[in-house]
Amino acid sequence: MRQLIRGRTLSFHADPVESEDSFTYLEDGAILVENGKIAAIGDYDSLRADGLSEIDHRPNLILPGFIDPHLHFPQVQVIASWGAQLLDWLNTYTFPSEAQFSDEAHATRMADAFLKLLLSHGTTSAVAFCSSHAQSAEALFSAAEARNMAMIAGKVMMDRNAPAGVLDTPQTSYDDSKALIQKWHGRGRQRYAISPRFAITSTPQQMESAGALVREHPDCHIQTHLSENLAEIEFTLSLYPKARDYLDIYETYGLLGPKILLGHCIHLREREIARMAETGSRAIFCPTSNLFLGSGLFDEAGLRAAGVPTGIATDIGGGTSYSMLQTLNEGYKILQLRGQKLHPYAAFHWATRGNALALGMEDRIGTLAPDTDADFVVLDSRATPAMALRMEKAGTLAEELFVLQIMGDDRAVTQTYIAGQAML
Ligand code: GUN
Ligand code: ZN
Repeated sequence: MRQLIRGRTLSFHADPVESEDSFTYLEDGAILVENGKIAAIGDYDSLRADGLSEIDHRPNLILPGFIDPHLHFPQVQVIASWGAQLLDWLNTYTFPSEAQFSDEAHATRMADAFLKLLLSHGTTSAVAFCSSHAQSAEALFSAAEARNMAMIAGKVMMDRNAPAGVLDTPQTSYDDSKALIQKWHGRGRQRYAISPRFAITSTPQQMESAGALVREHPDCHIQTHLSENLAEIEFTLSLYPKARDYLDIYETYGLLGPKILLGHCIHLREREIARMAETGSRAIFCPTSNLFLGSGLFDEAGLRAAGVPTGIATDIGGGTSYSMLQTLNEGYKILQLRGQKLHPYAAFHWATRGNALALGMEDRIGTLAPDTDADFVVLDSRATPAMALRMEKAGTLAEELFVLQIMGDDRAVTQTYIAGQAML
């Protein structure tokens, strides 16, 4: 099946902070999609052909679909829970809600709703924590496979400091993760992330289990949390008194390297930053969550200068929006408070190719390069009356992107494509 998708195309091939020549923008562009992949991209006139079916998205922008590298599938009903910082928020709202995912019917209904939300917000790939119940990961992978969506997910491993309804054990977490890896990792577009929640909810024995899984499955991603909140750090270090610092716990069990995605990374020590850079470990910035939970301000420039690769993510349900546009909006404001700048080119690079780089998946997703998967988001920068009014004064592509970054949300997403298939 061949189809031409026409619009104003924008794709990054380098980091705009590091390179003047970082993107290709085609005013009357087109993407030739064949069997779910990008066969070619170029000016519409160069790709049009008799008998080739066309979809015309002009005057809207076509970008690679957004990638959300950190969020929690079983927190769809936790988002917007009032009044707490991390540890109280987990105990009061999050663990009770995640406990419900032992029920397969509930997990299945939530997985369907969750993926519909991702797609309506223009997110085509995500790295998601599931609950500790294997059936929650089953539900999410099944729903993602049915849509042919590239999903990276894992059942969370947690065996202490939480209610019984969400706890597993070192052995069951190993066995369940292993069975899920064997069933889902590399099946179609599905990939597995080994997911120890964070050091507080894992005994040293369970961290050993996580380390064993990582050794046995070096191709899987690893997702966890690091240094989000000051009370969290204090409690963590009391549980692992021999650790030099928080990161050292994950290093002790062999988790560090380019496959690990460390959510938050706000209150890091110098040694931790240096060690993350040396090992290639990834820091994932979650701006709406960090503001909502009062966690702190991510130091993008500091991590960049140290050579730590970063991604940017929603962290639903500590995060407050499924929209990567709103995530970039809040990211801009956090960097303002740090005296740093998030230029719209850097922002849109981050949410697409930058996040793909953080995942080591830039050969598949995150750009409009030929031979990659045809996952796109179509954006209308005049989606609301307020945006349309502002756009009357936007003279450049950068200004238009900034309007989307600051004012955009799911109303600006007019279509989302997964492997060449329109999903909305
Ligand atoms: N740290 C451990 N678990 C979580 C979680 O579910 N959300 C956030 N924001 N931080 C965490
Ligand atoms: Zn998280």
